[in-house]
Amino acid sequence: MLKIKNISSCYAKVKVLNDVSLEVKEGQILGLLGRNGAGKSTLLKSIMGLVEVVSGNVSLDDEIISGKKAEEIPYYGIGYVPQGRRLFPELMVEENLKMGLLVSGYSADVLDWVLSLFPALKSRMKQKSGTLSGGEQQMVATARALCIKPKYLLMDEPSEGLMPSIIETILETLEKLKTENVGILLVEQKIEGILRVSDSIAFIENGFIRAESDPQKLKKNPDPLEKYVGVKARK
Ligand SMILES: Nc1ncnc2c1ncn2[C@@H]1O[C@H](COP(=O)(O)OP(=O)(O)OP(=O)(O)O)[C@@H](O)[C@H]1O
Ligand SMILES: [Mg+2]
Repeated sequence: MLKIKNISSCYAKVKVLNDVSLEVKEGQILGLLGRNGAGKSTLLKSIMGLVEVVSGNVSLDDEIISGKKAEEIPYYGIGYVPQGRRLFPELMVEENLKMGLLVSGYSADVLDWVLSLFPALKSRMKQKSGTLSGGEQQMVATARALCIKPKYLLMDEPSEGLMPSIIETILETLEKLKTENVGILLVEQKIEGILRVSDSIAFIENGFIRAESDPQKLKKNPDPLEKYVGVKARK
């Protein structure tokens, strides 16, 4: 289990996360919803060692990983797909994937597995990443994270700026990963997809977790959706 226990995180001296506790279980998807600036990306960056955790801790199967260097975290089996994809635009798709394969030991089996999830990338391997479409770039960013063969995957707004058919491909990939026992922390602002694939949903506001629910309960009681994401309940 990936366990976030009472963490607070700061940029300079400004506290952005307050006493956040969440659990991501193997083979389950935890959705994280919240408005712009709520602290969603900061939470993922805190897990990845990219933002300083000033109190509390993050542990993976009871081993504390907060406080480790950012470059060490992937080796614990945590993959990260940052908001805005963050590919190396001048590098070919293949070279971007090698960044992930470095962590899993350049295994051909891992690459085959990743390309079986994103067959569309097979014909793009020699293309510069910066010249890909937004949807293709999201596939590469996800594929790169999967090349480390993660036990847990953190995804920051993968659907941002993409058309519905590509979003659907991403959601189907997440569902497949679940069946392979990967635990996923999925940050989103669009609610439809996240409600479909998540096992539970947490709501963050001003750096505080305000509520946790699950898609079934949210159908009966959509108040948190309205309160923390501004979605009007459909009656
Ligand atoms: N590098 C930084 N330095 C200082 N403050 C930052 C930095 N990055 C983010 N913040 C602040 O931290 C708060 C949370 O930002 P964060 O990016 O985590 O929000 P978010 O929930 O991911 O928002 P969005 O939905 O727009 O991506 C915001 O008030 C933001 O201005
Ligand atoms: Mg963000």
